[in-house]
Amino acid sequence: MSRIRVIGVGPGTLDYLTPAAQRALACARVLVAGQRHLTYLARDEQKTFVIKNNLAAMVDFIRAHREEGVAVLASGDPGLYGILNYLRRHFTPEELEVIPGISSVQLAFARLAMPWHDALILSAHGRPAAALVNLMRYQGKVALLTGPGTPPNHIARLLVKGNMADRKIFCCCNLGYPEEEILETTPDELADKDFSELNNCVMVIIDENQLALCNSGN
Ligand SMILES: C[S@@+](CC[C@H](N)C(=O)[O-])C[C@H]1O[C@@H](n2cnc3c(N)ncnc32)[C@H](O)[C@@H]1O
Repeated sequence: MSRIRVIGVGPGTLDYLTPAAQRALACARVLVAGQRHLTYLARDEQKTFVIKNNLAAMVDFIRAHREEGVAVLASGDPGLYGILNYLRRHFTPEELEVIPGISSVQLAFARLAMPWHDALILSAHGRPAAALVNLMRYQGKVALLTGPGTPPNHIARLLVKGNMADRKIFCCCNLGYPEEEILETTPDELADKDFSELNNCVMVIIDENQLALCNSGN
């Protein structure tokens, strides 16, 4: 039985699409992806399925077409708060071939020239933002994938409300795109910023006191 390829396509532009991902894309006869990725990666002769709020239908479609050569495209890396989590509920590891991609979190930390082995990585997609912000209380370094309904200004207000206004924030938006923007700010400043035009953001949230404590000693 053919394996289903799950391809990480990076944060959004061809610059961060790996050669391995390009080869896998070239072989696929059937692509399953969000409209944003299909628009710039699908070729006319490929069959496509658009992922929206239809994950059960997506699994049926993959099963129906898998012998033709199916590739599921994931933004960034498929295993970091991506489609792989859902696919693993329906397919065994042996049925899947995962091609890693460059995550938006990797690109954010690269832009900041900051190591990230010590970061807690969280996602606001479908999770209560207040509970997530509470998890940040005792962390020196957090990367947060903001989600629909939880833009950075909303998170900033929760940080202020939770007595974490002393954090330093880097708001890394539209990474890899021409309109990329990286803003160094504070929760108070960010709380009033309008994010209606900037919806693709990774927040890096630093508590310098806790970082200093972690890095002190022998
Ligand atoms: C469903 S998650 C998928 C994360 C993905 N698997 C990864 O490794 O980057 C989508 C979130 O990733 C972040 N994201 C994806 N592409 C981005 C980009 N080009 N710039 C900034 N953030 C991005 C945003 O927080 C977005 O809401």
